Amino acid sequence: MRMEEKKEKSIFEKYMEKRNILIKNRNILQSSYIPEQLPHRDEQIKKIAEILAPCLNRDKPSNILIYGKTGTGKTAVLNYIGKELKKADPDEKNCSFIYVNCEVVDTPSGILYNISNQIITEYNRKIPFTGWALDKIYYELSNYIDEKDKVFIIVLDEIDRSFKKNGDDIFYFLTTMNEILKKSRVSIIGITNNSKFTELLSTKIKSRLGEEKIVFNPYNSIELQDILSDRAKCVFDEGVLDPAVIPYCAALSAQDSGDARKALDFLRIAADIAERNGDSVVTEAHVNSAREKIEFDAVIEVMNTITNQSKVVLMSIIKNFESNNKKMTTGDVYTTYREICDIIGMTPLTQRRVAGLISELDMLGIIHAQVKSLGRNGRTKEFSLNINQDIIDKFMKNELFQPLKNYKPSKQTTLM
Ligand SMILES: Nc1ncnc2c1ncn2[C@@H]1O[C@H](COP(=O)(O)OP(=O)(O)O)[C@@H](O)[C@H]1O
Ligand SMILES: [Mg+2]
Repeated sequence: MRMEEKKEKSIFEKYMEKRNILIKNRNILQSSYIPEQLPHRDEQIKKIAEILAPCLNRDKPSNILIYGKTGTGKTAVLNYIGKELKKADPDEKNCSFIYVNCEVVDTPSGILYNISNQIITEYNRKIPFTGWALDKIYYELSNYIDEKDKVFIIVLDEIDRSFKKNGDDIFYFLTTMNEILKKSRVSIIGITNNSKFTELLSTKIKSRLGEEKIVFNPYNSIELQDILSDRAKCVFDEGVLDPAVIPYCAALSAQDSGDARKALDFLRIAADIAERNGDSVVTEAHVNSAREKIEFDAVIEVMNTITNQSKVVLMSIIKNFESNNKKMTTGDVYTTYREICDIIGMTPLTQRRVAGLISELDMLGIIHAQVKSLGRNGRTKEFSLNINQDIIDKFMKNELFQPLKNYKPSKQTTLM
């Protein structure tokens, strides 16, 4: 028998047929994709280009501090600038552009190591990943930089991440490097989502790092529409997107935060859902499903971060709801909590600690606690759940709770 005759139908076949009908190039809707054009960021691009331009003549540009909420295009703009610099100086004779994401590498030595790794190309001069003290890395790196006799633009993205762990050491190192350099020059561009960030820096670093400041404002609905339309052109065929979809995605994210990443997520996930359903047009209804999915995923992510003790507290609240005790008090929750601890073999905390965990769940938005007056009997708290049944179902599947299959809270003493 010949090979092709033997080929059987795969369970994946139906997905393969559907693929690419709606989305031609899915990649373009991912937030990691860097588009050629960045609508509504001309002003910021122009300003940064003006500040950096001297580097093409080997003069040192001012340091820049960039602020803006998440999804306002800061990273995209800086990547774009990096590409344009490379176009202007392809052999990097006059300037080199170095980008570091401090969310990923967040210790001073990690950051210096990452910079060194990008700058030092000669194999025998590479800095080893471990074993070198910070001073030594700094010394080697500055020597190497100086030999190159040019300007280095170092972009530190998400600098507040590094700061949280390490204070301003790294900014001190990098902004003072010019004092020991004889030939080369270093300029720093710091990017942060946190507008209060500079208040945390020492005065000296603050004035050094913030020689120039640029703000990225959240996008409004119209701007988001332009951003989405640009991308959609390359991704969808004529007629595949209902005309209401882009305005709707834009409005939802503008109202929320003006975050372009979110707007793109709405569009990408809506198209995914349409594709999976086998629908031929992406509509507002798909965007609504996308929104639910995003919210669902976000809540699940939060629920995954809480400790087992908190999970048991939440379970106690859920079990009370299920047995129709909708007006439970802290005392009720605690009684159930003790019973559950008993069943699953966990050491119970005191009622006071449990009350603290309940407040935490409230702060995370998983439950809602309301203080109720009991007249003469003082005050108590009543709870409601802020999570939907799908999330509850998923939560209850946690291995921790397997012994609770047939459990019901014993009679409560709730005041009605
Ligand atoms: N003006 C713009 N035009 C096109 N895409 C944009 C624009 N601004 C942001 N984006 C896209 O939105 C997403 C988030 O942008 P990003 O630069 O990562 O935001 P930030 O760094 O400010 O959090 C990325 O996919 C980016 O390509
Ligand atoms: Mg960013």
